[in-house]
Amino acid sequence: MEYSEKVMDHFMNPRNVGEIEDASGIGQVGNVKCGDIMKVYLKIEDGRIEDAKFKTFGCGAAVATSSMATELVKGRTVQEALEVTNKAVMEALDGLPPVKVHCSCLAEEALHAALWDYAEKNGIVIEGLKPPVADVEELHHIEE
Ligand code: FES
Repeated sequence: MEYSEKVMDHFMNPRNVGEIEDASGIGQVGNVKCGDIMKVYLKIEDGRIEDAKFKTFGCGAAVATSSMATELVKGRTVQEALEVTNKAVMEALDGLPPVKVHCSCLAEEALHAALWDYAEKNGIVIEGLKPPVADVEELHHIEE
């Protein structure tokens, strides 16, 4: 299995690891198949993501994709953050081996779950955001 240099870099030196104490939204998803868990924290002010952090009990690809995903959403509006899909994250990392594609879904779904949490807490609707899943295996769009 080959990993791109960017994947290796984000795995060895992950950005944004940790938690945000007064997070505006927190999302957690797991994957029952591999047992990995991802938790994402977002700090949102005036509809813009000021900070994003993650903690994971997951594989290297999950670490790398979450590192990249949190980097990509920082500074964006919540609406723009929806464009940070697992595909976008994989492109930013110069690709992932096919068997690791599902790991990038963990990052995307945890991000969406955190946005959902933020929206619920603030009584707002984020257009296009679907209710979060507890387990990524519930998704049917995972292409491997
Ligand atoms: Fe479980 Fe990668 S193997 S997230």
